[in-house]
Amino acid sequence: LDDPHADPFAIAAEAASDIHRLTGIDHHDVAVTLGSGWGKAAELIGETVATIPATEVTGFSKSAVEGHAGTLRSIVTPDGKNVLVIGARTHYYERHGVRRVVHSVRTAAATGAKTMVLTNGAGGIKETWKPGQPVLISDHINLTADSPLEGATFVDLTDLYSSRLRELARGIDPTLDEGVYCQFTGPHYETPAEVQMAKHLGGHIVGMSTALEAIAARQSGMEVLGFSLITNLAAGIQKTPLSHAEVIEAGQLAEPVISALLARVIEAL
Ligand code: 6GU
Repeated sequence: LDDPHADPFAIAAEAASDIHRLTGIDHHDVAVTLGSGWGKAAELIGETVATIPATEVTGFSKSAVEGHAGTLRSIVTPDGKNVLVIGARTHYYERHGVRRVVHSVRTAAATGAKTMVLTNGAGGIKETWKPGQPVLISDHINLTADSPLEGATFVDLTDLYSSRLRELARGIDPTLDEGVYCQFTGPHYETPAEVQMAKHLGGHIVGMSTALEAIAARQSGMEVLGFSLITNLAAGIQKTPLSHAEVIEAGQLAEPVISALLARVIEAL
């Protein structure tokens, strides 16, 4: 993936064939990336058929971040859907390039997945939101100044975060609010002024993932559903300093509730 002459889609196809070989599952219907706080959801989605270290799959690198499992799992739902659970996110702030950031999404598409569910832990800009609350992503603002698309690839991003799938999710939990996700590069959290900028731009959620992955998912023809777990309010909105420990703790407290939500949504897809 670091070779600019290599074809990232050919590498994703190779990764998909590794997954087939290592799991025995020849296709997946749905893929879900588990962000901070969402890690326990896998058990509730269905029966785990195989768990493989991401490092055994072409193009995946070991994730350094606490709270990220570094595994890929093949799970079968009670109604027989094959779900690829990606617990191995490469973040933009790792600076391994955008190709590595979206490799898991392209691999998911290459395994046959038609739906990409992207989850993350993020900061909330809406003052009414509470830490531990899951929200739907309705759209995004990509503040990375980067794109997973290379060359003259003009992809439409209208309804990127599928309104059909958001409706379906609200059918499971009618209290779900939604907002516009702003992807910053990280790994530092935003300044209060940057949070105000995001708010003025029309953003409601600040994070360090998801937008680039959603773009790649759309390019690969998948329907996208996005969830943020609000682990804290963004800098300046909450009055106390932000800490990674707080983000992890909010995730752990919310885990049972959001895991059940995610499992039910996947079942309903
Ligand atoms: Cl406040 N900002 C960003 N970029 N990511 C976060 C966050 C804030 N809280 C959790 N993740």
